[in-house]
Amino acid sequence: MIKYLGSKRRLVPVLGELAQRARARRALDLFTGTTRVAQAFKLGGAEVTAVDFTRCASVLAQCYVATDCDSVDPGLLERAVADLNALPGRPGYVTETFCERSRFFQPVNGARIDAVRHAIATKHAGSALEPVLLTSLLEAADRVDSTTGVQMAYVKQWADRSFRPLELRVPLLLPGPGRAVRGDAAVVAAELGDFDLAYLDPPYNQHRYEANYHIWETLVAWDAPDHYGVACKRTEVRQGERSVFNSRRTMPGALGGVVRDVRARVLVLSYNDESWMDLDELIEICRVRGHVEVLAFTSNRYVGARIGIHNPAGERVGSVGRLRNLEYVLVAGERAEVRHVVEPWRDRVVVAKAS
Ligand SMILES: C[S@@+](CC[C@H](N)C(=O)[O-])C[C@H]1O[C@@H](n2cnc3c(N)ncnc32)[C@H](O)[C@@H]1O
Repeated sequence: MIKYLGSKRRLVPVLGELAQRARARRALDLFTGTTRVAQAFKLGGAEVTAVDFTRCASVLAQCYVATDCDSVDPGLLERAVADLNALPGRPGYVTETFCERSRFFQPVNGARIDAVRHAIATKHAGSALEPVLLTSLLEAADRVDSTTGVQMAYVKQWADRSFRPLELRVPLLLPGPGRAVRGDAAVVAAELGDFDLAYLDPPYNQHRYEANYHIWETLVAWDAPDHYGVACKRTEVRQGERSVFNSRRTMPGALGGVVRDVRARVLVLSYNDESWMDLDELIEICRVRGHVEVLAFTSNRYVGARIGIHNPAGERVGSVGRLRNLEYVLVAGERAEVRHVVEPWRDRVVVAKAS
């Protein structure tokens, strides 16, 4: 699984069990990111629709959610991954842009990423294996990058993991059907069909995922884009439209819209206490769905926050911020069902001012 800000690694067991208790046979993960929550729903037997607007998340969803492992010949997949691993380096856009102009990967790995991506484009484009092999490449590149977890900058000294050789692995595919949708949640929410449970995990602030993970966008698009700045970000990051969920002005209305529009018996929304909306406002927008219960969990913050702020010489110039935050899980729907769904976490229920 790639490193990803806001990924719900710790909450996955809770969210999986919530879906089980809601008897979710059809589930929606509207801001799917790494797809780890969608995968938990799928493992629990649900038919899952996973939505995100980045190219990277969409490829991960095509691999882990939309691909039924029973439809893939395991021998063929293993051979395809082995063939890609055997390719010699072939320096190209990645080497020049992300190893020479910037320092996200060691050049030897950059040349291999170039070779593998070129082979996927020439031998597998349009095939059922394409998203699976792309996922394998993204995950392999993520294991040898030289960042603190986001691609707005690379670290001053090469990260230890960047010295390891790039190695693709066969992604662990799951059984059962599913759907991957690349789109703007605010636009598609009402048109996705009916679900037993919808999970919403929108961005928390102005930091955009297409900027934080611009290298993955480029590896998927494979379009050798013009770039800008020290981090060599795609120019579309500067020029393109922002997600309505990344603006303090538009986020509350957009979130209220998707909460209202998704067609699901039970709605689950996660948010943290550093976001633009406070808990009372979140509860208020969820009330359109009926009864609302709130669970609260503590979690560690992003590693950058724990390391502190450094100047270009690597000296600490700022103080370390808060190390932990509160992750809220709001569950909304018909009263008796919501109470049944949250029952195992009674000791986590938060009573907010508005309730
Ligand atoms: C907090 S992350 C979700 C993390 C995910 N639950 C996980 O565990 O990996 C928010 C996601 O929302 C996506 N996103 C941002 N704006 C969006 C929009 N307008 N429509 C759909 N997805 C959007 C981002 O690309 C990002 O993947």
